[in-house]
Amino acid sequence: MSIHISAQPGEIAETVLLPGDPLRAKWIANTFLNDPVCYNEVRGMLGYTGTYNGNPVSVQGTGMGIPSALIYYHELINHYGVKNLIRVGSAGSYQKNVQLRDIVIAMSASSTSGINTTRFVNSDYAPTANFELLMKAVHYAKDNHIAIKAGNILSSDEFYEDDPDAYKHWAKYGVLCVEMETAGLYTIAAKFNVRALSILTISDSLVTGERTSIEERETTFSNMIEIALGIL
Ligand code: ADE
Repeated sequence: MSIHISAQPGEIAETVLLPGDPLRAKWIANTFLNDPVCYNEVRGMLGYTGTYNGNPVSVQGTGMGIPSALIYYHELINHYGVKNLIRVGSAGSYQKNVQLRDIVIAMSASSTSGINTTRFVNSDYAPTANFELLMKAVHYAKDNHIAIKAGNILSSDEFYEDDPDAYKHWAKYGVLCVEMETAGLYTIAAKFNVRALSILTISDSLVTGERTSIEERETTFSNMIEIALGIL
């Protein structure tokens, strides 16, 4: 077992879906996987392994924000040999044409986090999706008539900004939406030479102030999970 995950070696699959919310991990495991078994309850950060079309898959909650999520990404990669890390999360839209319930695939993740400013002093690092996973997700969505958008997103360190208009600066540079984990995921995946992809569903809009209901979020999440599992 690692510090934050109580699974035995071999109990976690090479491919892991990574929602922020541990109860979402439970819902995904019980809804989409065959014979899901819970391997982690440490700090309530639930993790499950089951199968999908006969292939082993795990689902692990990561908590909100890069610092929390990096703990789980790190331990999954370095203690359990995970090779494919697929974040499935929600995001707030920064653009008029990115609407509630849309699915966004993060090709790259800008960030307000300090993780890479201390690593790459006086330089920029561009956290980027794994091309193979990205292409598989795009093809799966196309073949199954699921509309997607893809582009640069923002991984923010703060959910509640001082300035409600701060998003406009990022929007001007084409950033599609905001969440809080992907820049950390893409950076750690690159560091340890494993594959990562973030698939996001728009749950709210900074442009219009709209927000989906909890029930709606559940149904719209299904398409995103289908794409994530379709990558297998
Ligand atoms: N995740 C979903 N909506 C968000 C928002 N508005 N800001 C940051 N993370 C989010």
